[in-house]
Amino acid sequence: MESIEIDRKRKIVEYLLDNDILVDSDMLDNINNIDELEQFFERIKHDPNPNDLSILKDNLMEIPKEQEKKEDEKKETINDLPKKNINVKIVSSYDQQPAKRNIKDFVEFFRSRFRSMENILSNRRELNANLTSIGKILMKKEKEEVAIIGIVKSKNETKNGNIILEVEDLTGEIKILINKTRSELFELGKEIVEDEIIGIVGTNGDKIIFSNKIIFPDIPLSKEFKKAGEEVYAVFLSDLHIGSNNFLYKEFNKFLKWINCELGNDKQKEMASKIRYVFISGDLVDGVGIYPGQEHELDIKDICKQYELCAQLLSKIPKNIDIIIIPGNHDASRLSEPQPPPYKDVSSMLWEMPNVTMLSNPGIVNIHSSDGFSGFDVLMYHGFSFVHYADCVESIRSAGGLDRPELIMKLLLQKRHLAPTHSSALYIPDTNNNSHIINNIPDFFVSGHIHKASISNYRNITMICGSCWQSITSFEEKMGLHPEPGRVPIVNLQTRECKIIKFMEN
Ligand SMILES: [Fe+2]
Ligand SMILES: [Fe+2]
Repeated sequence: MESIEIDRKRKIVEYLLDNDILVDSDMLDNINNIDELEQFFERIKHDPNPNDLSILKDNLMEIPKEQEKKEDEKKETINDLPKKNINVKIVSSYDQQPAKRNIKDFVEFFRSRFRSMENILSNRRELNANLTSIGKILMKKEKEEVAIIGIVKSKNETKNGNIILEVEDLTGEIKILINKTRSELFELGKEIVEDEIIGIVGTNGDKIIFSNKIIFPDIPLSKEFKKAGEEVYAVFLSDLHIGSNNFLYKEFNKFLKWINCELGNDKQKEMASKIRYVFISGDLVDGVGIYPGQEHELDIKDICKQYELCAQLLSKIPKNIDIIIIPGNHDASRLSEPQPPPYKDVSSMLWEMPNVTMLSNPGIVNIHSSDGFSGFDVLMYHGFSFVHYADCVESIRSAGGLDRPELIMKLLLQKRHLAPTHSSALYIPDTNNNSHIINNIPDFFVSGHIHKASISNYRNITMICGSCWQSITSFEEKMGLHPEPGRVPIVNLQTRECKIIKFMEN
């Protein structure tokens, strides 16, 4: 039996190395049985593009059981260290007052979104040569190669199994046929979602274009892989759900002890001492009235008290660490995105903490800049739209759906939009601030919401999904979800090496 396992582990290592993916021995040591090996193998095997989406280090480290603190002098808390200047700059955070919106706002919102995406797409070499408007194509009689940029109004399958799109721009509307016999093109066609803006190259017919190429806005291959000048770390939390009777108080306390260098082996403590940034991607508290019957699943039924406990716990994080927070759908903010930061009157203790930066969802910060280093741009999005794409995009659904946050995040980066389909998230049509568009290419894309930790890399963007600090709820059980609480992704900003530290017993 032992030799079978060793053999299978060897196969995994060989497979990963064939795909230019590095794996370290800690990870394999944490794969204990055939089932886990199978799962891991399946996960890699179904990755549609392993070269683009390499798992840097899916490295689970067990934190040993709480260790006795040694001499008193070693207990010196980093909390007592003098507060350094915050090295977090807000690049984008929505703070507009609510306003009445009407149909015109939606029309103008979509028009401005079209213009922004058109700007990105028109730089693509594949489109430039024959780029024209749909209005002009509709007047053409002769068949010729054309290129358009359009918004996908609908996507369907023909009787013969081809994909047929209705696409429009500001001048008209046309059908696009993606033939199933063109297998590579057809696979790309399956990734198209409604309301996204794409480029199409093809041959025009009568009010139809026979597609030869599909161009997503995507991330340029030239994106720089930035590294900090010194060894400092950032950790990524999400979905604390404080107030829930499923909140994992004991495990969260372990995390707090570790970040204070009071728990773990020497190597783990040393790493903790070099942490400078903690990101929290929303759902800090469980909230109240979020779903019917929630009151029966709450330890703390007053939202102000939920935030008070949250602030008390987060205040145990050493003050020389900057904490960056966005709200999620359980927080005290409106549901429609962009969600402003949690309301001050409800979460005042968080706002008053000197090392906390409160942002909107989505929001962007720049961290760790210095003379000669421009710092890292971090795009934070709670991830409310992820559920839609896990279900509607076949390649993601068949690879595990919500168990594969990295595939969803990669898809959205390719679309340069956090919620391209109208129904995938609630949103405010603010024409002056369309924060779902990924205009500035970040170094980190950070998320949460689906309670599953993952770290991966797409074209030099580190994509991180935080785990959660709530054991499985009755709702998650009913929905067949598989949350993985108590994991903490951590990134060495000097090397960009990533790990996931586990604070749960299983
Ligand atoms: Fe959550
Ligand atoms: Fe959430």
